[in-house]
Amino acid sequence: MSKFQAPKGVSEYFPPDSNLFEYVRDLLLQSAKLAGYNLIELPVFEDTEVFTRGVGESTDVVSKEMYTFEDRGGRSITLRPEGTAGVMRAVIEHNLDKGQLPVKLFYSGAFFRAERPQAGRYRQFYQVGIEAIGYSDPEIDVEVISVADSAFKKLGLKQYVLNITSLGDSKSRDAHRKDLVNFISTLELDQASAERAKLNPLRLFDDKRDEIKLKMRQAPVLLDYLSSESSKHFEKVKELLDSVKIAYQINPRMVRGLDYYTGTTFEFDHPLLGAQSGIGGGGRYDRLMGSLGGADVSGIGFGLGVDRVLMACKAEKTLPLDINPLELFIAPITDEAKSFGFKLLSQLRDAGIKCDMAYGDRGLKGAMKAADKSGATYALVIGDDEIASGSCELKMMSSGNVISSTLTTTDLIMKLGTKK
Ligand code: HAM
Repeated sequence: MSKFQAPKGVSEYFPPDSNLFEYVRDLLLQSAKLAGYNLIELPVFEDTEVFTRGVGESTDVVSKEMYTFEDRGGRSITLRPEGTAGVMRAVIEHNLDKGQLPVKLFYSGAFFRAERPQAGRYRQFYQVGIEAIGYSDPEIDVEVISVADSAFKKLGLKQYVLNITSLGDSKSRDAHRKDLVNFISTLELDQASAERAKLNPLRLFDDKRDEIKLKMRQAPVLLDYLSSESSKHFEKVKELLDSVKIAYQINPRMVRGLDYYTGTTFEFDHPLLGAQSGIGGGGRYDRLMGSLGGADVSGIGFGLGVDRVLMACKAEKTLPLDINPLELFIAPITDEAKSFGFKLLSQLRDAGIKCDMAYGDRGLKGAMKAADKSGATYALVIGDDEIASGSCELKMMSSGNVISSTLTTTDLIMKLGTKK
């Protein structure tokens, strides 16, 4: 065993799997860019209060899972457990909401939650997220959902399920809260659950214990308390989802793990992933900016778990076998050929050809083995004879077929391009 191991429960990627991770992440990002979202790059740590206020004290994320520490200046710092609160902090700090609305932002990177590690649940994991801030049109809700949905479709996923509900506006929630609190008062709860329920009674819908789950089946659901405005908004969201042919199911007991949600909320689940089946989720957050000291501006967004989306693609076997392979691998068999090949590599790379070469003194057999391992489409053996004659043979690795070429960059590029 090596002296050092990665910290417990982190996800890490190295070749060849890292190519698959990159492929999945880039497709998710592409979908956001196509819909007009722009990059926001933020620190991975923030003032702890950004999360305690933004995400909410009643959540597991804040109460149990944050990596919080004091920095050298005595400030309380937390590694970001999610992206939305930090984005709002930046929007307020840099007055982004005073410009063109909606502010449409995307981000991707590592997030940190001190959870019990298991398959698909990590202490450092990766998300691609988007946030659309400034308007509350139902069209924006559906745009956000469709950015995720179209990325999943492009990845070839078929079996995921979209759950949606509405957590309503404050009028809806106040009416519901009264009845829910009354209902909860009839239950016998342990002290910790009672404390949580006091902070946010909706949290009890999220309880993992069977006896509470069973009791909560009788609890009043927010969807039955929507104000006429919230109800109209939710109806329009459903109509728009139908219009763009995005299948969904309504799940009135779905509460997300973060406290800032209002109105439309959603989760994508993948049935082949076992206990950690959430591949992404999000929703509208009408009060988040206000709670962080900004103007009361509405927003909606999602976070997609790149690790889990990759697992889903593997489970459904949707990933291409060769992702962006090397086009050419050069196998030089003499010292002079190595220097010649080195110069050729540089010219081919300048021309945008993805290529590599066998380094080390390996001889023909070793160099061809390296060519095979490289996954390149073509291999080119260069020895003194080839250099003298200026001509060579390109071997297609998959079929063993051979094409003649000269050793000039232009001829090689032409042959690589046309013979694939
Ligand atoms: P979330 O549902 O907490 O939402 O996380 C989004 C996704 O991140 C989950 O669906 C899951 O795929 C992935 N994820 C979360 N925790 C872990 C973990 N421990 N290991 C692996 N993957 C994980 C948010 O974070 C919100 N900020 C989303 C959002 C953006 N809402 C509005 N805007």
